[in-house]
Amino acid sequence: MGPKSRRREAQIGTIRFLLNDQVRELDAVDPNMTVLNYLRGVERKTGTKEGCAEGDCGACTVVLGQADGNRVRYRAVNACILFVPVLDGKQLITVEDLAAADGTPHPAQRAISELSGSQCGFCTPGFVMSLFALHASEPKPSRQRINDVLAGNLCRCTGYRPIIEAAQRMYGYGGGDRFAARQKETLKRLKALRRRGTLALEAKGRRYFAPTTLNEMARLCKAHPDACILAGGTDVGLWVTKEHRDLDILIYTGNVRELAKLKVANGHIDIGAAVTVTDAMDVIARHYPRFGELLRRFASVQIRNSGTIGGNVANGSPIGDSMPALIALGSSVVLRHGPRFREVPLDDFYLGYRETDLRPGEFVERVRVPVKSAARRFGAYKISKRFDQDISGVLGAYALELDGGQVRDIRICYGGMAAVPKRAVRCEKALIGQSWSDGAVARAMQALDADFQPLTDMRASADYRMLVAKNLLRKFWMETTNPGVGLDVVSYGS
Ligand SMILES: Cc1cc2nc3c(=O)[nH]c(=O)nc-3n(C[C@H](O)[C@H](O)[C@H](O)COP(=O)(O)OP(=O)(O)OC[C@H]3O[C@@H](n4cnc5c(N)ncnc54)[C@H](O)[C@@H]3O)c2cc1C
Ligand code: FES
Ligand code: FES
Repeated sequence: MGPKSRRREAQIGTIRFLLNDQVRELDAVDPNMTVLNYLRGVERKTGTKEGCAEGDCGACTVVLGQADGNRVRYRAVNACILFVPVLDGKQLITVEDLAAADGTPHPAQRAISELSGSQCGFCTPGFVMSLFALHASEPKPSRQRINDVLAGNLCRCTGYRPIIEAAQRMYGYGGGDRFAARQKETLKRLKALRRRGTLALEAKGRRYFAPTTLNEMARLCKAHPDACILAGGTDVGLWVTKEHRDLDILIYTGNVRELAKLKVANGHIDIGAAVTVTDAMDVIARHYPRFGELLRRFASVQIRNSGTIGGNVANGSPIGDSMPALIALGSSVVLRHGPRFREVPLDDFYLGYRETDLRPGEFVERVRVPVKSAARRFGAYKISKRFDQDISGVLGAYALELDGGQVRDIRICYGGMAAVPKRAVRCEKALIGQSWSDGAVARAMQALDADFQPLTDMRASADYRMLVAKNLLRKFWMETTNPGVGLDVVSYGS
């Protein structure tokens, strides 16, 4: 690093954000401090609860407001795995902020109270915040959508029926809320907080950088090859809260304009590495409805609002949900190191258990997904113990091209069957050039024995995994050959 760069990085920055409608300026905050610990320990706002500290229970749900064109976009996130510097330029709303100045409760609070949607009350602030985000962003959610929105909030004593009814009733009181009434003013204030250059912080011996341009991101990653790249933090956050690791240098991708873009052009969906799962879902679903359906079962709304496709791919978990589907579709990753780029097919990117082809100082710039050709049929099935908010035991993804009744091409990829998300090459070979028939599929199912030697762990036994992997292939065949079933096939919980 040259002296000029060192001078530029030496500055101690200040995080600025709105806490409800008050500006907060923090200049000595530990970059590893979570928003939950900040709220409870520094602000003494204890309405936001800690249940699991790993993004699972939703007791810590808060809402982030962000300027989005000419409106403020409100989204629920888990405060327990969100680092405080990520708040820079945003509005943080907690359960203490919802009631009007005269004490009138927010429609979400009123409905929960009228319908007895709370017993011990520990989960209630989290539920209320999820309902508040829904109320602020969607006028008439379906029952299915309400279920999805509440899938990331767990309640052990009330039961969900009154809470779901409260979600429906809160729209019946008429009018908006004080956040809707002040939206213009809030938008102006958020725009004034928007940062043009890199935020560089140093506190408690740790450093945090949030660049705003791709070139600056590339420069920082090259200068700090040992830094931890932070996107949504839904994996990284747990390294601090559960593994008690010190992350001494963090480089945050979320403010880099180019990385937040998602484009469909030249036969590809280009997903910038900072695009959240929530933002990618609709576009992916337009091209591959069943991939969209798979993402609807990816964690919870709170996790999808923070977590990114880029982070899922870079994290390289053998049970990550997006990779088998991306690999079956022939996707690639564009990697950047300083000014240099390289594009790697995703099935070559994984070298071993949680080991990728990323080199020191290199980062994922985007994920490229080929757009569906008319001839291609795609299916993906996630098998997990619970339908919602659970990690896959096995995930099978299939992309098939037929020529008449014959298999011209098929790409099959499984998660949960090996140390990496892995293509079933022997199984594919057994099918290519064959008729797409029961007999050929039965032979290909047997070929899976040569492709994989799965492990037994807490999610599934090796035998179960193998049996499921075989049966999912048969399921795909049955659904693609049954004229009554759509071509993209549905994913189910077991
Ligand atoms: C409660 C809970 C439920 C979950 N459920 C699911 C699920 O159903 N399915 C699933 O697949 N996953 C699940 N996850 C895991 C996690 O949400 C995903 O892996 C998510 O996509 C990670 O994205 P992120 O933006 O949060 O990444 P981060 O946590 O910020 O980063 C993850 C890893 O990727 C690296 N990284 C991030 N961006 C880049 C980049 N641009 N270049 C290079 N490296 C980068 C980081 O350094 C880190 O190693 C769950 C997690 C939690 C906490
Ligand atoms: S405390 Fe459980 S999700 Fe945050
Ligand atoms: S009311 Fe007790 S956990 Fe939900």
